[in-house]
Amino acid sequence: MSQPLVITIDGPAGAGKSTLGALLAERLGYLYFDTGVMYRALTLVALRVGLDLAQAEPVEALAQQVEIEVVPPTQADGRQYTVLTDGQDVTWDIRSPEVERGVSLVARYPGVRRELIRQQQQIGQRGHVVMVGRDAGTVVMPDAPLKIYLEASLDERARRRTQEHSGGAAQPLDLVRSAIARRDDLDAHVLRPAADAVLLQNDGLSPEAEVAWIMDYITRHG
Ligand code: DC
Repeated sequence: MSQPLVITIDGPAGAGKSTLGALLAERLGYLYFDTGVMYRALTLVALRVGLDLAQAEPVEALAQQVEIEVVPPTQADGRQYTVLTDGQDVTWDIRSPEVERGVSLVARYPGVRRELIRQQQQIGQRGHVVMVGRDAGTVVMPDAPLKIYLEASLDERARRRTQEHSGGAAQPLDLVRSAIARRDDLDAHVLRPAADAVLLQNDGLSPEAEVAWIMDYITRHG
């Protein structure tokens, strides 16, 4: 396989898609694009303008109006990119507990998906991109030459999440595990590997080892 212009990485929450995607994009000199950011940005704006997230139509209408941009980092505060909604920096706000709670619902609305997928496709079509999400390989970029579906056991994903948050108040492992299981259920409507996806089970594998595995896969299928 010559260097694929579009690589998609899908898989459940906590499987390590962002870490792998960012590292792989850096290695290849590609744009790293996390599609989940767009669902989060829309959820944040919907909450800020006081929409009831349980009502599909106003949220779907808002999806047509808000300008969501993901650009290279504008500040050196540990961010991988800057997220703007109508020109306003919301990079950290989209990680709030309120957004976390509402985003799965927003991401279910067909009108929301249609609009955000259209925008994601425009970014993907420019090429030189590692696109991360749930349906990047199945729906957004079905012709991508390399599609990766990342898997990790529930226990491993919960362990990673607790380590990520170890700077703050540590959450009990079983609570984190059930939160991830709940997220899996909510995301189940889009979560499936593309028929031609490469499955990568990464329990006990470091991100560097995963990147090495993928680079080797690209060479071997040349
Ligand atoms: O990957 P994440 O946690 O930032 O995703 C946030 C939510 O958006 C999650 O509920 C799944 C959903 N999502 C989606 O439905 N399709 C995508 N391509 C990316 C995310």
